[in-house]
Amino acid sequence: MRICFFSAQKYDQQFFDQANQQYGFELVYQEAALDASTARLAEGADGVCVFVNDTLDADCLQALERLGIRFLALRCAGFNQVDLEAARSLGLAVVRVPAYSPEAVAEHTLALILTLNRQTHRAFNRVRENNFQLNGLLGFNLHGRKVGLVGTGQIGLSVARILKGFGCELLAHDPFANQAFLALGGTYVSLEELYAESDIISLHCPLTPENHHLIDQQALDQMKPGVMLVNTSRGALIDTAAAVHALKSGQLGYLALDVYEQEGDVFFHDRSDEILSDDLLARLMTFPNVLVTGHQGFFTREALTQIAEITLANLQQLDQDQPCDNELTHKLSA
Ligand code: NAI
Repeated sequence: MRICFFSAQKYDQQFFDQANQQYGFELVYQEAALDASTARLAEGADGVCVFVNDTLDADCLQALERLGIRFLALRCAGFNQVDLEAARSLGLAVVRVPAYSPEAVAEHTLALILTLNRQTHRAFNRVRENNFQLNGLLGFNLHGRKVGLVGTGQIGLSVARILKGFGCELLAHDPFANQAFLALGGTYVSLEELYAESDIISLHCPLTPENHHLIDQQALDQMKPGVMLVNTSRGALIDTAAAVHALKSGQLGYLALDVYEQEGDVFFHDRSDEILSDDLLARLMTFPNVLVTGHQGFFTREALTQIAEITLANLQQLDQDQPCDNELTHKLSA
């Protein structure tokens, strides 16, 4: 079986080549992102393997189907970038990696919270210039703080477990209660209550058409003044323009982002020699109380190993016509 990878980075090749030793598939790596205009690069392949910022809309899927592609393997958990209805009607099977080391993203969430709170990124630069002043580095104790988690699936629960160790009070909102979260002593509340009560709000739900811009001006207005907002899920959960407005007014005290609405144009690329044309992102970078990382929550050895192994196992199941639990199109038709 020949699989064409899009948006492939060196580390994808490293981990997939290693996992492929037990499968022997033919893996072809393309740096280009997949959309309708680049689909032709998959000519001759049986399947494509894509990541978070590839665009699998109806046009792209039709182009792939014309090339004889049968399988679409997402090497990620989220699937908001795929038109699943169109894939199903074209007979294209779509698989994903629903769970791989949720601790990887959870631990990065904590890294963002701790860095932003205690300003270790600024302290690092200061001491290197022999500036040992503490002004501007004042933080707060996490112990005793209320943290509101939007989504208590695999990652939200893992974050809750870590925060419990810090002595935080755990609030959450999720349409489905997770018994493991309740067993930690967490409390489910309405979104309104979560906004009003939380000192830190962290997003761990998937992006859907219904929760696009969940955190908009109205939501921000309901939050505690000076709240910390953390997003390691999907960029478009936050209306970035509204967040900039709330940062300027002080309503939003801290903002940590591992994902960004328009990240497709910049994330995973070295743009250091170019002029940044995204004015919102440029504005975000000017705030001392904003921390942006380039979608690296998943980026641990353990997670990359699991992603590669599960993706290739998914593809083998599809190729051998076996039922695959990680198939999205199958669930849609069920
Ligand atoms: P999961 O499917 O285990 O949990 C998601 C939870 O969100 C579920 O309990 C669901 O009921 C809940 N939910 C759905 N809609 C909601 C809403 N409107 N409000 C509140 N809760 C809602 O997913 P998992 O593994 O915990 O991942 C969460 C998200 O994290 C993924 O959808 C993905 O977007 C993001 N992610 C980010 C990564 C990164 O590198 N930054 C890596 C992996 C995932």
